[in-house]
Amino acid sequence: MAGIPHASTCGGRARCMLCRVRVRSGMPLPAPAEVERRVLERLGADWQSVRLACQLRPTHEISVWPLVPPEASKAFLQRRQLRGMAEERFAAFMFVDMRDSTQLAADRLPFDSIFILNRFLSAVCAAVVQAGGLPNQFLGDGVLAIFGLGTEPAMACRQALAALPLVAVNIGQLNAALQQQLPKPIRFGIGLHCGRTVIGEIGFRDHVTFAALGDPLNVAARLEQLTKEIGCETIVSEEVFRQAGVSAISLPQLAAQLRGREDPVPVRVLRNTARDVSGLSPTLAIHPA
Ligand code: FES
Repeated sequence: MAGIPHASTCGGRARCMLCRVRVRSGMPLPAPAEVERRVLERLGADWQSVRLACQLRPTHEISVWPLVPPEASKAFLQRRQLRGMAEERFAAFMFVDMRDSTQLAADRLPFDSIFILNRFLSAVCAAVVQAGGLPNQFLGDGVLAIFGLGTEPAMACRQALAALPLVAVNIGQLNAALQQQLPKPIRFGIGLHCGRTVIGEIGFRDHVTFAALGDPLNVAARLEQLTKEIGCETIVSEEVFRQAGVSAISLPQLAAQLRGREDPVPVRVLRNTARDVSGLSPTLAIHPA
């Protein structure tokens, strides 16, 4: 009613605990009903200061501070859906790598390098999430993102293609913000491919991570490496365009010879990611998951 967004995945039924708020008020609050009291006990919370927003019915003006950011609902749901899931499914895989990161680290204090790397990873991940993908692994100075965990192949590939210019724009903005600190703008390389892989959790005890295994993933990683060799920003396999129903006829074509594969992989080369994607037909819209 006060227009304060809250995280929630249970529809206000005292189950997800995401709507919890810290209450800042000198006046006593109404005691929680049984269902809320049990949840607060599990949280170890004092009900005079922490409450479930969906259950509390204040009798006077109060000031509340949501304890979980509203956007956490989506990530929470995604993680919960993925937990325990092991299956073979189609997805699009995007490797995004920061160029010259070794040089960047050599030229500055470790703290500064980590700061810049974190800003880079945030810029990439924000673009991936905006387009409907899931940042899956951080690999040193790069990110693996997966598209299609909850969508059909065509949408997965369209989301991945739509993420490309978002990544480029976010990194452009980062370069503008860090202009004073950087000797030259941060550059990036992206490899994008799709196909069926095995997806599930791997790890040991509490150290479990969600991972994809399979050839499409390796191809995406090698396409990203190939961007360094041919000096372009992005390489996308023809298969991604085919699945997405997008014509890439305007982009230079290449038969990529990749290590460990006999047959070349037909790909398209994007020298300027934002400009090249804007010239595709049909135009790509953002379809968040
Ligand atoms: S909305 Fe889920 S516990 Fe309140």
